[in-house]
Parts: sequence; C-alpha cells; structure tokens
Amino acid sequence: MEIKTVGIVGAGQMGNGIAHVFALSGYDVTLNDISQEALDRGLGTIRKNLDRQVSKEKISAEDRDAALARIHPTLTLADLGKMDLVVESASERETIKNAIFEDLQPHLKPETILTSNTSSISITRLASRTDRPERFMGLHFMNPVPMMKLVELIRGIATDEPTYQLLLDVVNKLGKTAASAEDFPAFIVNRVLLPMINEAVYTLYEGVGNVQSIDTAMKLGAGHPMGPLELADFIGLDTCLAIMNVLHDGLADTKYRPCPLLVKYVDAGWLGRKSGRGFYDYRGDTPVPSR
Ligand SMILES: NC(=O)c1ccc[n+]([C@@H]2O[C@H](COP(=O)([O-])OP(=O)(O)OC[C@H]3O[C@@H](n4cnc5c(N)ncnc54)[C@H](O)[C@@H]3O)[C@@H](O)[C@H]2O)c1
Repeated sequence: MEIKTVGIVGAGQMGNGIAHVFALSGYDVTLNDISQEALDRGLGTIRKNLDRQVSKEKISAEDRDAALARIHPTLTLADLGKMDLVVESASERETIKNAIFEDLQPHLKPETILTSNTSSISITRLASRTDRPERFMGLHFMNPVPMMKLVELIRGIATDEPTYQLLLDVVNKLGKTAASAEDFPAFIVNRVLLPMINEAVYTLYEGVGNVQSIDTAMKLGAGHPMGPLELADFIGLDTCLAIMNVLHDGLADTKYRPCPLLVKYVDAGWLGRKSGRGFYDYRGDTPVPSR
C-alpha cells in the first residue's frame, strides 16, 4: 500500500503545520476542523509560512502554489473516510479524540491507517476504541512542524509491523527523522521536557525567580534556544497542563503534579501565544511578562 491522500483533523497550530509539510511533499491533503474560523486561520498560517519559505529561497513560488492547491479544507469529518491516512490533531482531550474516531469509523475504507498526534495520551487506549488497533499509531510531530526535524513514532500494543514500516517511510518522505518510543505516558520528548517546564513554573510560583530571570537563566545558563516559560506559551498552557495530568495520572508519582500556578493560568484562559497572553502578554509590539 502507498499513502497518497492524507486527512488531518484539527487545523490548530499543529494541524496546519502537518498539512503544510504533507502538501509540500506532494501528498493530497484534506484538512478538517469543527470551526470555520480555525480552518480560515489555519490556511492563512500555511500561506504565510510557505511565503516565508519562498522569501528565504527554501522553496520556489511554484512549490508554494502547488502545495496550497493540494490542501482541501472541510467542516465535514466524513470527507476524511476515503483517505489512505488520517492524522488526528485536535485538542489534547481523550474524550474529544475518542469521539472523532468514533464519528469517523462508519465512513472509513478498510485499509485506512489511523494516527494521532497526541502529545501524551495512550495510543493503545485510543486504538482499542477503533475497529483497527493493528493499523493505528502515534505520529507525534514537533512544534513548529515545518521547522522541526523529529517525528516520534509510537506503536500501540496491537500495532502491526507493516503499519509501522509504512509510517516510517512516510516520515522519511516528509524529510523528517523518526524516533521510536514505547507507549507510556507522554512518550520520550514530553516525558523529559514537560517536567522541566512544570519545574520552571514552580520556580516562578515559589518566587525563586521572575519570568525574565527564569527564561534568561535557562537560555544563557543551559544553552536552551527558548526559555521554559516562553516555550510553555509557545506549546499552549492548556496542552502543557493536559500533558502533566497524563503523566501524574499515568505514572502515579507526585513528582509530576502540575504546578497550581499553571492550573490558574489555564483557568484564566491565559493559554499562551494562541490566546494572546500566558506567562508573557503578546498583545503589544513586543512580548512582556504578564505579571
Ligand atoms: N502545541 C504543541 O506544541 C504540540 C506539539 C505536538 C503535539 N501536539 C498535539 O497536537 C494536538 C493539537 O494541538 P494544537 O497545539 O494544534 O492545539 P490547538 O488548540 O492549536 O488546535 C486544536 C484544534 O482542534 C480543533 N478541534 C477541536 N475539536 C475538534 C473536533 N471534534 N473535530 C475537529 N477539530 C476539532 C479546534 O477547533 C482547534 O482548531 C494535541 O493533541 C496536542 O497535544 C501539540
């Protein structure tokens, strides 16, 4: 089987990046969201990011136009049923993801491969709710998708070898590098990264440092390209909290307890860059610490 058509569920910051890289690599992409506004915003972001690649001479104007012509937006999830591969990249809530796979199932052709871009939720559990756990995998892209080279490949307990090999080939065709992870909470990247971010929020909560000193310390002291609070805003604080909850629940260890300050920011709707405010306030010309 060769993958030619790809359906992507969720046109948010990850979904639009995933659509961008698949379309640029020649795949025919159908991009779905429940919100027309999210679809419009997602397509606008893809156009802007492709333009940037043209101006940096990474791709030609023809490549950009051909990629855009390969992306078909839709509000109808059932349109994804005839695709060879589905990449679910909706919000990080298990109930939402289960409902999407359940709604999609009656429309799927038998050979379609299902994947989730989840940052942390059990692939085995998501797969077990579908009619094809052997053709279900975690396909975990990094943010921002067009720039980041890694894709984590996560096999559920039932995933078969042909599915794994096919997706490994897809990752290579996208010009990315795969790292294989076992299906345990948050896999590799977020198992290591999120406790570090959560600890940075505790450092702020306990007054050890302020937003700027914590980020400056980790950038200049540990050589990180972004400070942990800046990175949390970039990921989305709701996603960070969801991943910490998965680690806390899944590994039953208090070292993963989400910082109460992270919970408070999410309760306030301060979700980071995507909502205009998180640890930093993005509503002016340059980001400034929110408090
Ligand atoms: N943000 C990151 O850095 C990052 C990195 C890797 C993976 N992920 C994962 O990618 C997924 C998406 O995260 P994001 O950062 O793009 O979130 P986001 O909030 O930017 O986008 C989520 C999108 O899903 C849409 N959506 C919600 N319910 C839907 C449904 N039933 N059907 C169709 N669309 C629906 C929303 O309208 C929204 O546009 C999550 O599973 C997240 O854990 C995120």
